Amino acid sequence: MALLPRKRRCKGIPTSIASQDHLGGSNPNDRVRFSEVGIFLVERRMGASRRRFLTELARKKGFRVEEQMSESVTHVVSENNTGNEVLELLEKQNGISRTGFNAALVEITWFTESMGAGRPLEVESRHQLQEALKVLAESAELNESEARNLAFSRASSILKSLPYTVTTMEDLQGIPNLGVHSRKVIKEILEDGTCSEVENLLRNERYQTLKRFTSIFGVGVKTADKWYREGLRTLDELRASDVKLTREQEAGLLYHNDLNVPVTRTEADLIKQIVERAVHKFLPTAVVTLAGGFRREKEIGHDVDLLITHPEEGKEEGLLCQVVNWMTTEGLILYGDITGSSHKERSKEPEIFDHFEKCLSIFGLKKELVNNLESKNLRNSDSLAGDETQGIGLADHKEAAQQVMVAAACNKDRKAVRVDLVVVPYSQYAYALLGWTGSRLFERDLRRYAKRLKNMSLSSHSLFDIEQNAFLPAATEEEIFVHLGLEYIPPHERNA
Ligand code: CTP
Ligand code: MN
Ligand code: MN
Repeated sequence: MALLPRKRRCKGIPTSIASQDHLGGSNPNDRVRFSEVGIFLVERRMGASRRRFLTELARKKGFRVEEQMSESVTHVVSENNTGNEVLELLEKQNGISRTGFNAALVEITWFTESMGAGRPLEVESRHQLQEALKVLAESAELNESEARNLAFSRASSILKSLPYTVTTMEDLQGIPNLGVHSRKVIKEILEDGTCSEVENLLRNERYQTLKRFTSIFGVGVKTADKWYREGLRTLDELRASDVKLTREQEAGLLYHNDLNVPVTRTEADLIKQIVERAVHKFLPTAVVTLAGGFRREKEIGHDVDLLITHPEEGKEEGLLCQVVNWMTTEGLILYGDITGSSHKERSKEPEIFDHFEKCLSIFGLKKELVNNLESKNLRNSDSLAGDETQGIGLADHKEAAQQVMVAAACNKDRKAVRVDLVVVPYSQYAYALLGWTGSRLFERDLRRYAKRLKNMSLSSHSLFDIEQNAFLPAATEEEIFVHLGLEYIPPHERNA
């Protein structure tokens, strides 16, 4: 974990930072609002494109981000590095000695939460605790230990939602769902500044490699582990090897850089409009809805989740195939594979997945569109989507698909974005919307609650009352909450 041991850690920044409205920083277009705070993002394990994205994001929000390590840096932000690794790196690359070092080493969680809050937050042990528990959750996932994964994810999520600062173990008294192992980790960090189990994991070659390989679209834990056991370690080694990749993995590897860069709300809204327009070409009264993290009002996400339905049930049949084929021909979809109800998910938790017809795709979003939209809100949405769907040379269908894919990967005009397209029969729409809005943890807990306390079985398709031996229909999410005897929880409160 990238935090210095207690004694050496810097105090962090004062809670109230006077906003200074003046121009500065290395990007003259963005106003620096918090000049006292200087951020340096460590590229190692974050990657250049992700670092660039986070730099731009922070600058847009008025943060000062330095390209180089310097005296004016107050916060060194790293992802998946131990504190010592960061110090070694700075020593080697920037000649900065450990003793003369007086910036705070902080976790990426501090950075993302500060971005969310729109101001630099005070550095708290909470950020480090969350991150440590996340690493343990991820490691459990990579070891296919679902129960441990869930326990650590819950613990991390609990710490995120605590309205107060955790400084001693007493602060955590009476909090349910914090297991023995999580408490042990928290205690160690509060006392020593680091947790040896987490530090060891971050340095562990298997953990690092499996995390790297599973970050490729189409690669699950089993495949990643197989490659690891075959001696592969990096993406370049994988590319150079004669390992047989699926079409999905090939695309995942090809677009890995872009797909590792978060998706913004502007991009998500644009993609929704473009898909909506394509859908309306074939079925003008169909409805397209943005679900997933963006419906929970998150600012950034790893993909765009779109639900497609039609008020007259049955009309949606065959639609996905038409839409995906057409968008592929237009160069809008770089990779897409339609899966039906028979498709088996990689995950070990079948109850969490559904049987809707869907397309897990890679969308090619014209960067120009995003830039235009961001710099000025000049044109209306219709003409924007129109631009995208007009004037693109018609490719010659399937045999050209591979060429399109390779060309697009080198094409810097488009950003590859993961998009999930899900077709939902209208009578199941409310349940699908609830299921696809997430978060995953929220869905897990809601389903667990339904089963244990109401003796009902909740899925993205339906709610089944086991006592009454009957399905409970619902036209809206609100009705589902009524069935469950719960007060309505709006999407933005479903993040934890
Ligand atoms: N989901 C699902 N079936 C799938 C994939 C996802 O039901 N085959 C649900 C998940 O349970 C989750 C929601 O769809 O509740 C969104 O999933 P995902 O896109 O993975 O996560 P987000 O919450 O949108 O987070 P991010 O912004 O990182 O995409
Ligand atoms: Mn999503
Ligand atoms: Mn998704």
